[in-house]
Amino acid sequence: MLYINVQELFAVFLILCFAAPGLSSATISFNVMNYGAVGDGKTDDSAAFLKAWKAVCQTGSGIPILIIPAGKTFLLKPVTFSGPCKPSHIYVRGVTCKGPTALTFYRCNGLVVKGLRHTNSQRNHITISGCNGAKISNLHISAPSDSPNTDGIDIASSTNIRISNSFIGTGDDCIAISSGSSNINISGIDCGPGHGISIGALGVHGEQDTVEEVHVRNCTFKATMNGVRIKTWQGGSGYARKITFEKIKFVNTGNPIVIDQYYCPSGGCQNETTTFKISDVSYNLITGTSSTEKVINFSCDKNVGCNNIVLDHVYVTASVAGKMAYAYCYNAQGRLSHTKPSVKCLLS
Ligand SMILES: *[C@@H]1O[C@H](CO)[C@@H](O)[C@H](O)[C@H]1NC(C)=O
Ligand SMILES: *[C@@H]1O[C@H](CO)[C@@H](O)[C@H](O)[C@H]1NC(C)=O
Ligand SMILES: *[C@@H]1O[C@H](CO)[C@@H](O)[C@H](O)[C@H]1NC(C)=O
Ligand SMILES: *[C@@H]1O[C@H](CO)[C@@H](O)[C@H](O)[C@H]1NC(C)=O
Repeated sequence: MLYINVQELFAVFLILCFAAPGLSSATISFNVMNYGAVGDGKTDDSAAFLKAWKAVCQTGSGIPILIIPAGKTFLLKPVTFSGPCKPSHIYVRGVTCKGPTALTFYRCNGLVVKGLRHTNSQRNHITISGCNGAKISNLHISAPSDSPNTDGIDIASSTNIRISNSFIGTGDDCIAISSGSSNINISGIDCGPGHGISIGALGVHGEQDTVEEVHVRNCTFKATMNGVRIKTWQGGSGYARKITFEKIKFVNTGNPIVIDQYYCPSGGCQNETTTFKISDVSYNLITGTSSTEKVINFSCDKNVGCNNIVLDHVYVTASVAGKMAYAYCYNAQGRLSHTKPSVKCLLS
């Protein structure tokens, strides 16, 4: 499933870890060079980075700062920076990466990631898993549009996450949110190429999954395969609720607005007893053009249905002249105003 093409990786890392607010103390520097990093672009520096991270993570007092010097080339395998860490705040700043970069932040609280630049990564770029309280901004992530498994940012089992003002152009989802995530705010994302922003797919193999309070605002989708999607497999349980999409612009986007409770990318799935509930999803102030005629697709489970789906000021047209934009709707309940194309099952 993962395609790793080892290329040169150039990294300028500056990782600052702050002690709990209120604890005033001196800073302590941890330079990766002192943990065995070579930085010649040929030696695998992953172990040295992990050693340095461990030292930072275990700093009991003071403000630990992990320094990765600029002007050197570090070859890294996909790296997982694991918590829990003693400092309650961790600051990652100014990383420039090239090649098969995959940074995973696992169980990190109070994480701040700023100004990373990932180019041509061959797999998922940044994974935030089991974290509480992360602020991610000013990222520039790009991968070829035909590269598989190159999600820009994956968020799993995390709460209180803010992702803002970033460019993400990849061969897969720009941002994917999976189970156990709540209070996720996404804004100012310029997405494309890629598969858009996804919640799910949830409820695979009958799993119970939950996602709530996801707010996506001020985002642009340029020539992406999909826009904003909520996807669930048949047979699952749990919920996806309290989700808002606001001030979204589509530019020649395929499948701009999708709720799909029959997710089955490789086909051949059976309908199964599903109790997964999608509710309280709103789409406000959405405009733009679609490369597909079906611009809205609400395919809700035939027994459970979707509830309180609300559209207000949603205007999406077909980007190809002469094509008519339309909406498909199955078993969704809610309301709409100032919306074109109209969505039949939300009218009654
Ligand atoms: C997300 O935005 C809402 C307001 O729209 C705010 O109440 C909430 O605290 C924000 N959460 C984060 C993690 O930024
Ligand atoms: C909207 O997003 C763009 C980036 O796409 C950013 O430059 C701009 O400041 C954002 N506007 C607001 C009001 O947040
Ligand atoms: C599953 O249910 C949907 C909605 O009733 C229906 O359109 C679809 O054909 C069914 N799929 C299978 C494989 O039975
Ligand atoms: C959307 O709607 C159609 C019904 O026209 C359905 O068969 C299709 O597979 C749906 N799902 C997606 C994700 O497009």
